[in-house]
Amino acid sequence: MKLIRTENYKEMSLEAGKIIVEKIRSNPAITLGLATGSTPKGVYEYLIHDCVANGTTYREAKTVNLDEYIGLPAKDSNSYHYFMSQSLFNHLDINEDHTHIPNGTAANLEQECLRYEELINELGGVDLQILGIGQNGHIGFNEPGTPFSSRTHLVTLAQNTREANSRFFNSIDEVPTHAITMGIASILESKEILLLVSGGNKAEALLKLINGEISEDFPASALKNHNNVIVIADRDACKYI
Ligand code: F6R
Repeated sequence: MKLIRTENYKEMSLEAGKIIVEKIRSNPAITLGLATGSTPKGVYEYLIHDCVANGTTYREAKTVNLDEYIGLPAKDSNSYHYFMSQSLFNHLDINEDHTHIPNGTAANLEQECLRYEELINELGGVDLQILGIGQNGHIGFNEPGTPFSSRTHLVTLAQNTREANSRFFNSIDEVPTHAITMGIASILESKEILLLVSGGNKAEALLKLINGEISEDFPASALKNHNNVIVIADRDACKYI
């Protein structure tokens, strides 16, 4: 695992953005694995700016997102479908049919998990996966205790994850209790992984990731079993290391 320290969030986003653009330019038909949440927003802004200013094209690129809430339709402003359209897809020249997010309103959710795994296989796997990390070490919505062998599956969200995400909702009661997420094994099959960590509230998680042992109690520690992970973390996130 390689750690790149940056001064602040803006620099973290810039560093990550530059790496991603370089990959897209050298492999225009890339399959990108994407995350939602606050952390990657600056990177997405960078990609949009670069697409407009430098003409980097996404016409052949494909994307797969890590996760989606159960029960929120794509047009719901809290769904990850909506987030991705607003924060990225609507501003790139990407073909909408090439963007993939688990369907949290599928009639048969177990079937949807299988479909999603097959889809990733059909795309030839993820070339570059962008990840954020939860304060409890979750990646995707794989909460502590998730087997490292897990594939795309249904999860019950941890209470602290729902609390952390309630900032986007009117109240915590509106935060869905369940989600669909790529599993840890699915994530680890990505050829390269870029983990972004920003802010003092992630400092303990980063400390645990860097210095702690590999354990299913701390899902992100599975990344230590992967041979091509870059962690980009800002100064606040690095305050204990
Ligand atoms: C989102 C995801 C989550 C987030 C994590 C951090 O698709 O998979 O694991 O990356 O919860 O969220 P933020 O960036 O909002 O702190």
